[in-house]
Amino acid sequence: MRIDIISVVPKLMESFFAHSILKRGQEAGHVEVVLHDLRDYSLSKQRQVDDYAFGGGAGMVMSVEPIARCIRHLQSERHYDEIIYMTPDGETFNQQTANQLSLQGNLLFLCGHYKGVDQRVRDMFITKEISIGDYVLSGGELAAAVCADAIIRLIPGVLNDETSALTDSFQDNLLAPPVYTRPAEFEGIGVPSVLLSGHEAKINEWRFEQSIEHTKARRPDLYQKSGL
Ligand code: 6GU
Repeated sequence: MRIDIISVVPKLMESFFAHSILKRGQEAGHVEVVLHDLRDYSLSKQRQVDDYAFGGGAGMVMSVEPIARCIRHLQSERHYDEIIYMTPDGETFNQQTANQLSLQGNLLFLCGHYKGVDQRVRDMFITKEISIGDYVLSGGELAAAVCADAIIRLIPGVLNDETSALTDSFQDNLLAPPVYTRPAEFEGIGVPSVLLSGHEAKINEWRFEQSIEHTKARRPDLYQKSGL
């Protein structure tokens, strides 16, 4: 998979993609993440990429020309399966969307800033609009990083233990069960004895029950969706 991200502050995301699982995924050739500075596509000397809103009102609007130049330049090199605009008024991101996007070949993310982008950008280029929740961030960069992280870890081979993405919270609309590691006793508090039993079927059964109880208690809405 290849992920291109257009931003006015690409530096903000550099270190994020240069570490941990995302770094390994790139080094192993499963994914390539390329950051693009929108200002490189500005036609003005001051590298301006925004302007006052027609009709007035507070806040700047990201101009159509630099974005169109940038997207068209990238499109001349490859086809994008989705061109995604990160915006608080997009559809809310969830595991299902992450699963779908992880199956694509090339994704292009556009990070919004200020009062957003000129509507013509959305009408002409954008195939999907995503929000990461009902709160407002100062830019789409963190949101794009969140989506890219959720997508990249689902690409086969990116995680060490290939099955571990399958047992994530949300993958089956159930929250993950509690986990423990050594020591078996800490300040007088032990761990559930079934986990020390070595009995795999019983352990799986216990984990499943815990998942169900956990989900019922914390996320009754998800429990409903699980169909259990
Ligand atoms: Cl995608 N962008 C911004 N600016 N704020 C957000 C968001 C995106 N998702 C939730 N809040």
